[in-house]
Amino acid sequence: MTNNKTVLILGATSDIGIAIAKKFASAKYDVQLAARDATQIQALKSDIEIRYEVACSTFSFDALQYASHAAFFEGLTPKPDITVCIFGVMYDEDDALNDFALAERMINTNYTGAVSILNIAAKYYMAQKQGAIIGISSVAGDRGRASKLIYGSSKAAFTAYLDGLRNKCFKDGVHVMTVKPGFVNTKMTEHMPLPKALTAEPALLADVLYKAFTKKKNTVYIKWMWRYIMLIIKNIPEFQFKKMKL
Ligand SMILES: NC(=O)c1ccc[n+]([C@@H]2O[C@H](COP(=O)([O-])OP(=O)(O)OC[C@H]3O[C@@H](n4cnc5c(N)ncnc54)[C@H](OP(=O)(O)O)[C@@H]3O)[C@@H](O)[C@H]2O)c1
Repeated sequence: MTNNKTVLILGATSDIGIAIAKKFASAKYDVQLAARDATQIQALKSDIEIRYEVACSTFSFDALQYASHAAFFEGLTPKPDITVCIFGVMYDEDDALNDFALAERMINTNYTGAVSILNIAAKYYMAQKQGAIIGISSVAGDRGRASKLIYGSSKAAFTAYLDGLRNKCFKDGVHVMTVKPGFVNTKMTEHMPLPKALTAEPALLADVLYKAFTKKKNTVYIKWMWRYIMLIIKNIPEFQFKKMKL
């Protein structure tokens, strides 16, 4: 046990999760790594312990096993000061349109599972009158588009949930930050040709997220130009927008 604060990383096998875990460890936070298969994060745990000289522990966590979430959070010792919700899936949208099981899995991972675990964390933090929640949503949630029909709507719901949670938790001194990445170079996007200027590396995302967190920002776009790109996209009149291929 150290005197460091503790950060919980939900989705610790993800490229973004790994970068965020390392960033907080470099700032002397102890780290709790949670993933579906905890054996996948043992090497990261050792790396964090040796490289940053902080405590690091691993846990099994499946976003879709809602009934296990209360016991999972209960089992965390110490309780994390910050909970970062990173897990998410993005399936092919045509496949999801043709197979509701896939659409349902995408919605339930990106939204229902996140609500399930963050409700538990938020209730704990509100009772403690301290704590912070960071959610990785997406610019895809800023406006519904044909090319991101289910993924985008699941992220829109997650963004709205985080907005509401921030509003609900504020009076109890609990901060909620929404992170909206544009493109990030990860396993999720490795099959996609990404425009270099608009694409962030996970390490850049982690740097920007950490800095924004220390400044208690409410919403942060990564990279910064996405805020303006999405402002333009959100302001295209619907009669034009519906004819566009986006
Ligand atoms: N990459 C981008 O361009 C981009 C842009 C905007 C937002 N995002 C968001 O960033 C987050 C991280 O994505 P990434 O790009 O780092 O992709 P990634 O490397 O594919 O990571 C996805 C993560 O979600 C986890 N996951 C999936 N289903 C889960 C479940 N049922 N329970 C627990 N964990 C589960 C995966 O764990 P397993 O190893 O067990 O599969 C993995 O850790 C996602 O929420 C994504 O939507 C990404």
